[in-house]
Amino acid sequence: MYSEYLKRAAELARKIRDADEVVIVSHIDADGITSGSIAARSLERLGKEYRIDFVKQLDEKKIEELKNENPSLVWFTDLGSGMVHLMYGLNAVITDHHVPSATVPEVPLNARKTLTSFFEEVNKSEVLQLNPHLFGKDGAVDISGAGVTYLVARELDLRNIDLSALAIVGAVGDMQDSEALRLTGTNRFILEEANDHGFIKYHIDARFFGRETRPVYKMLQYSSDPILPTLTGDDRACRGFLTRLGIPLKRERWRRWIDLTHEEKKLILSELVKLILSMSYGHELAERLIGEVYELVNEEHGTPLRDAKEFATLLNATGRYMQAEIGFHVCLGDRDKYYKKALSMLNNHRKHLVSSVNIVREIGITKRKYLEYFHAGDRINENIVGIVASMLLNEDKEELPIIAFANSDDGNIKVSVRSPRSLISKGVDFSVIMKEASKKVGGSGGGHNIAAGASIPRGSESEFLDIVEEMIRKQLER
Ligand code: C5P
Ligand code: C5P
Ligand code: ZN
Repeated sequence: MYSEYLKRAAELARKIRDADEVVIVSHIDADGITSGSIAARSLERLGKEYRIDFVKQLDEKKIEELKNENPSLVWFTDLGSGMVHLMYGLNAVITDHHVPSATVPEVPLNARKTLTSFFEEVNKSEVLQLNPHLFGKDGAVDISGAGVTYLVARELDLRNIDLSALAIVGAVGDMQDSEALRLTGTNRFILEEANDHGFIKYHIDARFFGRETRPVYKMLQYSSDPILPTLTGDDRACRGFLTRLGIPLKRERWRRWIDLTHEEKKLILSELVKLILSMSYGHELAERLIGEVYELVNEEHGTPLRDAKEFATLLNATGRYMQAEIGFHVCLGDRDKYYKKALSMLNNHRKHLVSSVNIVREIGITKRKYLEYFHAGDRINENIVGIVASMLLNEDKEELPIIAFANSDDGNIKVSVRSPRSLISKGVDFSVIMKEASKKVGGSGGGHNIAAGASIPRGSESEFLDIVEEMIRKQLER
């Protein structure tokens, strides 16, 4: 089943072995940072010179810069596939899971002198990609950027199997476990390998964020998937809920989920199910309380590195603030200077998310027939507006996709969209909608069916919303 992936991975590995020095280009989110770290460690083990550049978006300008620099090889991780058409003249490998723009670069007009030279030029385009979409798989759930990068790394050297844990962190960071409440598809192959070799343990547990590090009442207070009616966002209500159940909040220190007894955990979960059902939120929401969780066996208990989801958030807390190098060093093993810095950034990130959600409540979310949206202007950082949209999406009983706008520091408008699963199963694809709607207003975009983004000119927001809405309507009709 995975043989076509592994065969392609081996081809990329050959190309990497042939290179003198490599420039890795990766994305600033958790999946991008883990991807970049897997690539970097495997190059180190090969004894190759490398440099790593983290970018928030791969644009034409960056590709031009790379062409001018002309390194022996560029390794794009967790990005690149959406820009393959522009890569003519680059020697590159791509390990990505975004929807590809092309299978090979477009040959520019001035290079197509005659028909034979055209074919020669096509063959000269040295870009090889490993991407689930090329095998008919859904890149939003089958495998992450870190996963495809890992498949190449393990072809390069079997010692790289220790990087499988990072591949799981990348997949969880991209929320690839969120649909089935467990990792599926090619992610499962990686998970079993990580488990067999003693790097990852998995089991069924509460899916709450912060099981390893947060006081239980806080874990409940900040729960956004699922939203806990009457509890989420209310510190006093969460303490009251636990106290009524006879669960001590504190012993010597605040008790975390990992400190509770099996009976206490069971009691909390069954009361939460009752609460959700009694508020007529339905069993789909209640079912999201429990799912598979992933533990990094070699990390210390009670640290954010022990749980894959918390590890991913720690990485987002660095990269989304343009300090991906800090997360990168943590992935490669630093537990000193960079790790301390990452921990303090994680603290800020959490506060920042809470205040950003409050800002949206202040601004208000506008509902339309097929979507809802908010415009954060300068008040929310463009790099986290997508995470904020994810958190708010789960609150909506009507199951509308949420479109978020924020001012970008390049003078444009950053768009993030997050969609309920139900729309995706009806055939809506936001990677297509973002790509085409942004193009119509003079911008660019892409991503995954369920989570995508774009950059559009200031002032085009309302025209853009009309186009998006019309496209959703059409896709639903089909
Ligand atoms: O660029 P990249 O693939 O790393 O980003 C994917 C983004 O999509 C992440 O921010 C992730 O949280 C989001 N996502 C989501 N819901 C899903 C799948 C992905 O919000 N079901
Ligand atoms: O930034 P955000 O987390 O909302 O991005 C969601 C997805 O959309 C990511 O996979 C990202 O790579 C993609 N995206 C894109 N073009 C943009 C912005 C985001 O393809 N201009
Ligand atoms: Zn990704």
